[in-house]
Amino acid sequence: MSAQVIEGKKVSQQMRQEMIEEVAKLKTKGVVPGLAVVLVGEDPASRVYVGSKEKACIQLGIYSEVHRLAEQTSEEELLALIHGLNENPAVHGILVQLPLPKHINEKAVIDAIKVEKDVDGFHPQSVGNLVIGDDSLLPCTPAGIIELIKRSGTNISGKHAVVIGRSNIVGKPVAMLLLREHATVTICHSRTSNMKELAKQADILVVAIGKAKAIDSDYVKPGAVVIDVGINRLDNGKLAGDVDYEDCLEAAGAITPVPGGVGPMTITMLMNNTITAARRINGIEV
Ligand code: GUN
Repeated sequence: MSAQVIEGKKVSQQMRQEMIEEVAKLKTKGVVPGLAVVLVGEDPASRVYVGSKEKACIQLGIYSEVHRLAEQTSEEELLALIHGLNENPAVHGILVQLPLPKHINEKAVIDAIKVEKDVDGFHPQSVGNLVIGDDSLLPCTPAGIIELIKRSGTNISGKHAVVIGRSNIVGKPVAMLLLREHATVTICHSRTSNMKELAKQADILVVAIGKAKAIDSDYVKPGAVVIDVGINRLDNGKLAGDVDYEDCLEAAGAITPVPGGVGPMTITMLMNNTITAARRINGIEV
């Protein structure tokens, strides 16, 4: 039997349709959700990401402002911009595109964002809220992964979830979210000695290591849900995940493709966070 393909692109489109209606409803209450995106420098990949975020806002009726700053912008100038956005009532979400140029302290910049407007979920207070289970904006890719697992019809509670990768952006927060959903969670990383053995016990396997096709069917328990967070450019120009998709298609019960799996969910969850932030800041219940 072949795995169910978890089509993130379709889920993302469906969620965006739902959000168009939510935004319209908020507008009848006098609230237009607003997102400010800050880009410093000319990194080509970052420019593409920022463009996609702007387009998504337009599609959903979210107010968007993009601040494209020169590479040589000082940390003080950037902090002054963030302080202004913190106080701007039209802006409910602030996202500073990473990486920043080397002369700017990334941590100081993230720390300067008001936690209620931290739509990336990278602020230490947002991370702390996530760990203790308080209401907070959730980091976009991990939140998108949980949404995909749930919408694939998988009940997370009581399952063994194995996360391969321990980054602050994906591995650690997705492990915490899975724990919040009552999974038993194992985190593996580059120093884990028996990774194959552990991965093979997973009902839900999340892979975020940034290495093309590193995980094959030897790591997959028959019927497992496999979530591939990797996006790697191969020598032939094609994209590949961290999972060897073709090889795992038979063993897995459900699997995300690359492209078209986790990737499309990230910006959709950013839009969702912006709407949530707008609602919370204005004291509007769901
Ligand atoms: N650069 C690559 N991914 C991200 C992200 O999710 N948020 C921000 N702010 N920068 C990024």
